[in-house]
Amino acid sequence: MAVRPILIADDPRLRRKAKRVSTVDSSIQRLINDMIDTMKAAPGVGLAATQIGVPLRIAVIQLPDEEDVFTLINPEVVKRSGEREVEEGCLSVPGYRGRLKRSLTITIKAQDRHGKAVRIKGEDLLAQALEHELDHLNGILYIDHLETPEHLWKTELPSE
Ligand code: NI
Repeated sequence: MAVRPILIADDPRLRRKAKRVSTVDSSIQRLINDMIDTMKAAPGVGLAATQIGVPLRIAVIQLPDEEDVFTLINPEVVKRSGEREVEEGCLSVPGYRGRLKRSLTITIKAQDRHGKAVRIKGEDLLAQALEHELDHLNGILYIDHLETPEHLWKTELPSE
């Protein structure tokens, strides 16, 4: 269990497309534990493996005031619907928040931390977090989605 350093916005490793995990073995379990520790220590709503410099398709999410942590291995979008405007931050873009459009609901399929196939349908904040973390695995940051530079502003709130 360890808290790992989080990469910051212009680090090129954040722009790499992560590779699929072929076997969910003990090294993947250790990586997931470190990701959860790192997300909780930040604290943040989610963390993708790419944010700690590991180019594998793994993300963890923990919504505010929820006990459960979603661990997603090889997540893929099955369906998106609707659109809403949201405010968003990212642990890799500290000190900023932005306004952008996200899906209202999203359904993904993935493997959980035991390698078991799961399907998750998220609405509102969970949909937003799922899209945000899946973007990370494709080398995309939320700041890429802003319509104008004015849609990004400085904040003293934690970045999530
Ligand atoms: Ni992020």
